[in-house]
Amino acid sequence: MPSVSLPERKVLFTGEILQDPYPTYAQLLDQGPIHYVEVAGKWAVWSVFSHAECLSVAKDPRCSAKRAQQMLLPLPLSRQGEFRELARMLSLWLIFMDPPEHTRLRKLLNKGFSQAAVEALRPQMEETVAQMLDPLKHSSEVELMREFANPMPVRVISVMMGIPEALHGTFVKWSRAIAIFRGNPNRTVEEAQAAQDALINMTEFFRKAVADRRQNKGSDLISLLIDIEEDGDVLTEEELYAQCIALLFAGHETTRNLIGNGIYTLLRHPEHAAELRDNPQLIRSAVEELLRYESPVQFTARVLKEEMEVCGRRIPKGWSLLCMLGAANRDPKQFEEPNQLNLKRLNNQHLAFSAGPHFCIGNQLARLEGQVAILNLLQRFPKLRLCGQKPEWADTFGFRGLKALKVIV
Ligand code: HEM
Repeated sequence: MPSVSLPERKVLFTGEILQDPYPTYAQLLDQGPIHYVEVAGKWAVWSVFSHAECLSVAKDPRCSAKRAQQMLLPLPLSRQGEFRELARMLSLWLIFMDPPEHTRLRKLLNKGFSQAAVEALRPQMEETVAQMLDPLKHSSEVELMREFANPMPVRVISVMMGIPEALHGTFVKWSRAIAIFRGNPNRTVEEAQAAQDALINMTEFFRKAVADRRQNKGSDLISLLIDIEEDGDVLTEEELYAQCIALLFAGHETTRNLIGNGIYTLLRHPEHAAELRDNPQLIRSAVEELLRYESPVQFTARVLKEEMEVCGRRIPKGWSLLCMLGAANRDPKQFEEPNQLNLKRLNNQHLAFSAGPHFCIGNQLARLEGQVAILNLLQRFPKLRLCGQKPEWADTFGFRGLKALKVIV
């Protein structure tokens, strides 16, 4: 009888590789577009690395976004039952839904993220940035993640949702717990517990906030969601709370890293920072390039609804598939000189916001925040430079961002 050999497991999700995953991505891509990657030291997941294949998986209706339950798989089997509530609460998020529910809700939510709705936020965004940069003294040492990149997007999304400033710190703590769970393929029981607790607390908060807002509706995102819920059969009360949490989470957990990763990248390439400072009209293409070069979301996942052939491999129904967006964004078949930063890159079809039906709904908001934050910082502080030791990357492989970023302003 012919023996069935299991594919070779590739190592990717280690603390060391996470500090600079790009040589490993390049090596793997060189060997082929798909690999069986080890997770939590005990199992493995098929992962696609090429731009063409990530794009095709993200658009393929045979690939389901319903994957909350699969996130528990790295936990010990005997403990997974304790986190049913965590998987259930996450499964209500737009990002983890499939059509037709996803299509209906997405269409209604698009209203809150239209070009006009986002552009209307620009003056408030400029003001927020100015308020945060005002207290920074020229020539002083500043931890830029703490003072600027982390709080700025929290403020923006909180204003959009009408969340009081006094609660920002608590929300950041809760969001972090969810990001650590979601972003770490080797997730642990402790991380699952912290994420579950955070989701329960956030649901409680939004239960009250929604009740208040029903009495006093405005033009904020919670009021938009209430309108959607009251309009018919699209959202239940629980799903409404889940979208509030998802938007708050997505609204800052990634954008802070666009700002942090973007500034760090520019400061490592001072000639590019100077070019941008002198030519502010470059900011749009610069932000696209920074999104490609140090993508805040390094992978996303799908679950196969049926057996499928992906890059010549037959993968059974029910198996997960990772789309390595961070690797796809350095694919030499798609990008000329992919490891070179090029703020004027033309036709930059990066996958930082994924593709297909789940293409990031907040992409225009994130782009605007990135543009306003990065340009203002560079222009206000012409001598901005890195200081101290090389900064460390946070150990959430999926959400790529710096633990801290020390600079002289
Ligand atoms: C630089 C910042 C951001 C990045 C890199 C980013 C990245 C992504 C990616 C990769 C996806 C799709 C994942 C998939 O295909 O499974 C996504 C979806 C989503 N993002 Fe973002 N995002 C950012 C900012 C935002 C902001 C500011 C918001 C909202 C306030 C937001 C809300 C969402 C939502 C609700 C989805 C789910 C869309 C759907 O399933 O239809 N994101 N984002």
